[in-house]
Order: sequence, then C-alpha cells, then structure tokens
Amino acid sequence: MGQCEIVVGKNGALKIFGEFTLKDTEGNILTPPKRPDKNWVSLCRCGDSNNKPFCDGTHKIKGFESEVAAK
Ligand code: FES
Repeated sequence: MGQCEIVVGKNGALKIFGEFTLKDTEGNILTPPKRPDKNWVSLCRCGDSNNKPFCDGTHKIKGFESEVAAK
C-alpha cells in the first residue's frame, strides 16, 4: 500500500489523498461513497454528517468554522 496524505480542510472535512484502509473498531473495512470526480475521500470533522465517518457536505449547511494551521 502506498503513502497517503491527509489535509485538514478549511471549515470542512479531512481530505485523504492516496491509498489507505479505513476500519471500524471491529476491524471491518469502511467503504467510502463512490465519487469518481474526486481523487480524495473526505472524513467528517464537524460531527454533523449523516454518513459518518464520511463527510456528506452538511458542514456547509451548518456553518462549521475551523481553520487549522501548522505552527
Ligand atoms: S465535515 Fe462535512 S459533514 Fe462534517
């Protein structure tokens, strides 16, 4: 498996680029929603997604605000 990169989105999700495996606490693999137009998977950071752990765009409706910058 190759390396992946995780980007903390401005006022939004965690975007994962590259190869990775996401599992629940039982070790079952979670399959991301199919989005052929995107080369990343988004994980919810706001807590309001109706498809956790994946982002479904609800953060935009809820007005989630969080900007993270390296220090
Ligand atoms: S970050 Fe997008 S729905 Fe939570």
